[in-house]
Amino acid sequence: MTAAQHPTLWLTGLSGAGKTSIALALAQTLKAQGRAVTVLDGDQLRHGLNRDLGFTPQDRHENIRRTAEVARLMNDAGLTVIAAFISPYRADRAMAAQVIGAGQFIEIHVSTPVAVCEARDVKGLYAKARAGQIAQFTGVSAPYEAPLDAALTLDTQALALEESVERICQYLWQRQQQ
Ligand code: ADX
Repeated sequence: MTAAQHPTLWLTGLSGAGKTSIALALAQTLKAQGRAVTVLDGDQLRHGLNRDLGFTPQDRHENIRRTAEVARLMNDAGLTVIAAFISPYRADRAMAAQVIGAGQFIEIHVSTPVAVCEARDVKGLYAKARAGQIAQFTGVSAPYEAPLDAALTLDTQALALEESVERICQYLWQRQQQ
């Protein structure tokens, strides 16, 4: 495999959109196909490497920068990386693409609408944000800038988990044929 065949699949979307579920299911599928793959998840990295960061635009920028540097190292070591981060700012995702390498960075928009994420409210964070208990919450009191040119757009309201995974696998397969 060439370096470009160890890409970073970058999942961006709101909290509760389904990024982590897709990332974990996709990782299992790709592992079963014999790929070396790892998942980097915002909630997970914020417990360790990025535990000093909050949710100001500056801290989110640093969160994405560090993650992109780690992803690049992992790609270089032969791993396919699945990164699941809200990454709400276009400029930060463009920076991540530059760090990782445009040929290796695959942007996937998990586009589940805010109303659906909020109705799910798996972690109860939307309710807290509406009550003013969490500041700068994406989709409520902080912006989300949707990708303009994502490789794939997946709305988990309309797609079952297996369908989202299948679409990404198909995309990777077609990419490998080029
Ligand atoms: S990012 O914006 O910097 O990319 P990241 O993906 O790492 O965010 O972390 C998002 C997770 O942090 C959410 O899924 C949620 O569990 C938690 N979180 C806590 N506070 C906020 C907030 N103000 N905005 C968004 N997510 C938050």
